This record gives sequence, structure tokens and C-alpha cells, in this order.
Amino acid sequence: MKRDLIITTILLIVLVGCNANLKTGHVNTVNKLVIHADANKVTISPEIYGHFAEHLGRCVYEGFWVGPNSTIPNTRGIRNDVVDALKKLNVPVIRWPGGCFADEYHWKDGVGPVEQRPSMVNTHWGMITETNRFGTHEFMDLCEMLGCQAYISGNVGSGTPEEMQDWVEYMTFGGKSQMADLRRANGREKPWKVKYFAVGNENWGCGGNMTPEYYADVFKRYATYVRNYPGNNVTKIACGPSGADYHWLEVLLNKAAGQMDAISMHYYVMSGDWNKKGSATNFDETGWFNVLRNTLELDGILKKAADVMAKYDKQGRIGLYVDEWGTWWDAEKGDNPGFLYQQNTLRDAIVAGCFLNIFNQHCDRVRMANIAQINNVLQAMVLTKGEKMMVTPTYHVFEMFKVHQGAQLLPCDINSNPYKNGSESLTGLSASASKDKSGKIHISICNLNPELPAELECGFEGFAAKKVTGRILTAEAMNAHNTFEKPDAVRPVEFKGMEVKDSKILATIPSKAVVVLEAQ
Ligand code: AHR
Repeated sequence: MKRDLIITTILLIVLVGCNANLKTGHVNTVNKLVIHADANKVTISPEIYGHFAEHLGRCVYEGFWVGPNSTIPNTRGIRNDVVDALKKLNVPVIRWPGGCFADEYHWKDGVGPVEQRPSMVNTHWGMITETNRFGTHEFMDLCEMLGCQAYISGNVGSGTPEEMQDWVEYMTFGGKSQMADLRRANGREKPWKVKYFAVGNENWGCGGNMTPEYYADVFKRYATYVRNYPGNNVTKIACGPSGADYHWLEVLLNKAAGQMDAISMHYYVMSGDWNKKGSATNFDETGWFNVLRNTLELDGILKKAADVMAKYDKQGRIGLYVDEWGTWWDAEKGDNPGFLYQQNTLRDAIVAGCFLNIFNQHCDRVRMANIAQINNVLQAMVLTKGEKMMVTPTYHVFEMFKVHQGAQLLPCDINSNPYKNGSESLTGLSASASKDKSGKIHISICNLNPELPAELECGFEGFAAKKVTGRILTAEAMNAHNTFEKPDAVRPVEFKGMEVKDSKILATIPSKAVVVLEAQ
């Protein structure tokens, strides 16, 4: 009798005390996050929150450039509304002019009096005429408006070492020379600073279809002529692999580690495959789950890539730049498929939060990442339609996460309930944490589960929380998104679902949400 009573009591405790997930048959317990607040050794490079602007679709033209005579308010041809929105992100760096476009771009066509600039065909992106109205001076003007670093991608696929050397001299040489004088004649006396310069883009594909062995030699040849003129120090970036192509990475490092300062990686995610990527807005839970699974896989890829790099660069001198990343969905109906315009939902925001958490966690090697792309293309910050402009859920994630820029990474251990879909399962929570210069700790958390909230206990080593505030980005539907008619449908608001207890933070993270907490 006594034994039966004990068993019944235990059963009752289990049923009442735990949140039974009937759909998956999994019993949720409290998720635990332990933040090592006394282990702050590595700085999160601000450039991890970098961007990418290619001459593709309406990214540069309309997205930035409307021309000085446009009725859209602009400064020297660059639209004010987009610049104002982007200023709130503390944009650290923009990569330009491509992408695949970079390896067919001839920079001299894009300088000098606009009416004399020749046009060309943008063969990669819609076979449209490129007017070259937006060139080096306009790009540098944009960077100065945003207060960000310039990252230039040079043309290897169809350009020459001489053309590459001339471009660097044109931009960065302060003395007297043919190129520096041409810059002055075109209206810019002072040289610019160019911190980042890539020797080609995707040279395994659109940048020349090369083998890694061949490209490694080509890289060394071209990189030789990317000169450091007095007062400017260029970080030379070699073209790296697409995702898990460790062979490309290994060959490049083996043959050319001494000539590079960084090597790139590109990583795109979708729900399906390259033939059928999935719709940006019309998807079910499997479409939600699959893209998150593909996103989280980057963590393991970066671990392996870092191991390969450590073999050839024991000191950790060479940075890994994930200089194209993000979601890639099927082209919107009625749009030029070569323009890669796509809507951006709460799902994209969760993907962005997970990626940024992964980059933070790998910040000892990953020193730059550039989401593709900044306006109107792929996983954009900003969408425009003529004079209208709106920001996306992904924009809001970048704005919420900017507290990590330049802060010190705090390693964390996460023990979370799995998020299950059929026979597959993922971690239910993604998180990262950092300590800023004033000692405040920021914790970014994504709840991947679209149905269940997560109870979280967040403890610290070397820190006792006294006060916590936060913001949350979420919505009712997985595919919630902003439109020109309802531009604020998805936006961050104050988060109140937490408290401090015994120096720990106890929080309930709603389903399908991105939360950033600030602990003092
Ligand atoms: O971002 C779109 C394209 O994706 C880039 O031009 C290319 O580098 C990549 O394949």
C-alpha cells in the first residue's frame, strides 16, 4: 500500500512538474546554460557582423544608388533612407563589387565622368546592362557615410595582375603616380584606406573554374602585386572553399599560406537542394527544420576547417572569413530569376541568430563574416520598391546582436532539450555570450522550436547576476514577415520573461524566438 502511494506520487510529480511534449513524446526539462564569465580571452571581431553588396539585381542600383537627380532623397546619388537604416547596425565592413560579378568587373570602366563610362553586360546576373554609374568613388563614399571598412574583391578570372595592382595604387597611393594622378583628376585628392582585398571570388566556379593547385599559383602571382603603399596595410584574402571542401582549403594552405592573411569560405543554406531550394514564405515545419539543421552543420565544418588551418598556421595568423553566408530561396514569382530577390521571414531571423552565435563561438579563427546580401538580394537587411523602403527580420537580429561587436567571447556550455521533427533532432536552443568594455554581459539565445517555449536556467562562473534586461524578436507564425504595407509586423520588443534568482537568470524563452539579454 505504502509502495503504491510512493509510485503514484512520483508519477504525479513527473506529470505535473514537467512539460510533456505530446507531439514528440519527449519530456522537457529545464534547459541549462553555463557561462564562463572569467574565461574571456578572445575578442569577437566586429567584422563578423559584416555585409556584402554585389552588382546583382537591385542590391546596388536602387538599393543604394538612385543618382543625384532622383526624387528619392539622396546624398551624392546614394539614398538617405537606406543609409540611415544601416547606420543603426554599426556596419563594420562592406564587401564589393562581387561575388561572381567581381571576376568580370574592370574597375577603370567605373571611374571618371559618368557620361563617359562605358557599359557592359552583367552576364552572371540577368544579362542586363551595367552602366558603371556606381564605381570606386561611389563605393568609397558609401563606406565613408557608414563609417565602415572597404573590402574590395579583385578580378582574377578575367583580369590581369597589372589591372589589380593599378586599382590598389589608384585607391591607396598618396604620392605622385599615373594612377594616383588619375584619382585626383577624378576628384579625390587624398588616398583612401583599403583594409581588405580579395584575390578573386569562387575561383573554383564562376571565378575561372580552376583547380585548387592552379588557383594557388595564380593567387601567389596576383597577390604579389597587391601592394602596401605607404600608410595602407592590406589584408590579402585568398579564395577558399564552398562549405566542407577541405581539399580546396588544404591545397591552398599547403601551397600559399605564407602569401595570404585570410582565406574565405562561402556557406549558403536552404530547405531543399540547389534545384529546389524552397519558398521564402510558403513552407511547413519540415521547411523550417531543414534549413536550421543545415545552418547548425556549419559549426562542425568550422571546427574541421580550423583544424586544417592549425596544421599550416600554428600561430593562428590567418583569418577564416565566411564572406558569403545566408539563406537562398527560390526566386519570387514574377521577378527576374537572375536578381535573387527574396522575402525574409521570422525563419530567416532564427537562421541569422544561429549563424551569428556560431561565428561568435569560432571567433578565434572566424574574423570576418559577410551576410549575402545587404539590400534586395538573398537574405537582405533592407528591401526597397521604388521610393519605399523597409527592414527585414534579419536586420533586427543584426541590430540586436551588435552588442557583441568588439566584445570578449565568453565560452558557454548549453544543455538543451532537443527539437525533434520526425526521426531527426536538433539542439533546441542556440546561444552565445560576450562581455563588453563596461563589463556588461550579453547573451543571445534562439529557441529553434516553433511550438514549445523553453525554460532556461542561466548560471555563471566568475560572475553574479544582479540585474537583467532584454529584447525579443518573435511572431505568431513561422513565416511572419514585414511588407511595405506593414513594415513593423516583425520587430523587437522589450522582453520581460525573466528574473534574477540566486545570481542566476531564470527565463522562459518563447517558441521560435530570438532573445538578447543584458546582465549586470
Ligand atoms: O551572392 C550571390 C552569389 O553567390 C555570388 O555572386 C557568388 O559568389 C555566390 O555563388
